[in-house]
Amino acid sequence: MTTPTAENPLRSLEEWDDFVGSRYAPGKANEQFRNYETADAGVREFYRQNHAFQTLDFARAKKAEYGALRKRRMGIWQAAEFLNTLVDESDPDTDLSQLEHLLQTSEAIRAEGHPRWMVLTGFVHDLGKILCLFDEPQWAVVGDTFPVGCAWSDQIVFHDFFAANPDAKVPGYQTLHGVYEPHCGLDQVTMSWGHDEYLYGAVKDYLPEPALYMIRYHSFYPAHRHGAYRHLMTPHDEKMFESVVKFNPFDLYSKGAGRPDVKAVKPYYEDLIAEFFPAELQW
Ligand SMILES: [Fe+2]
Ligand SMILES: [Fe+2]
Repeated sequence: MTTPTAENPLRSLEEWDDFVGSRYAPGKANEQFRNYETADAGVREFYRQNHAFQTLDFARAKKAEYGALRKRRMGIWQAAEFLNTLVDESDPDTDLSQLEHLLQTSEAIRAEGHPRWMVLTGFVHDLGKILCLFDEPQWAVVGDTFPVGCAWSDQIVFHDFFAANPDAKVPGYQTLHGVYEPHCGLDQVTMSWGHDEYLYGAVKDYLPEPALYMIRYHSFYPAHRHGAYRHLMTPHDEKMFESVVKFNPFDLYSKGAGRPDVKAVKPYYEDLIAEFFPAELQW
């Protein structure tokens, strides 16, 4: 069990996911996402840290460190089990384990008859959260992601907290395009560091392109929910974002589904993993 600390103010990583889920609860008006009153103190503090500390230099440094994939060598199922060792201060009777969240997402995708690569994408999409097990603070693992090195869109939640970010004092980072060229393409853009970008780096050689967009940008809510940052995207990015939009409801809304029977579905997933991935990969 872990207790919220100054460095890790969330009781669990899921607390962030749940906050996002409540922001976009079905039937809720889109504008209401700015209503942060329901966010508890831990979530607020989490965003304060995220927005204050995610600078261009920080994101570049983490991308270089983790992009080298020198932390571990393990298979996909092993990585899921490793992630599952992350024990939060949650109620084990009502809260899902990390593995269960992955399986609920992938099983919901499978139930709707989507292609096998997309089912697999659901299963792997949050494996990057193992960053927590490498002692990264919560603000560098989860949270809505956004480009760094250019002006922060007002479509990012808790926008006011960016005032404390050192990049706010770098004029070159505060123009609309910042260090980027107009419509340079998201691949050229450094995103705030977190589990999306880390996992993308680990799996990019093995999954089809729409899957990679789903993985790399699933927390990029300002873009896939609010249409921000189109000035950095190419027409191809926009096309690929249709996949990100298609994926998001499975991530957000599959929690209500029944608890997955891990033992029963494991053989299916072992086959599926073997179809796309080597027995072990670098993390
Ligand atoms: Fe995620
Ligand atoms: Fe997720």
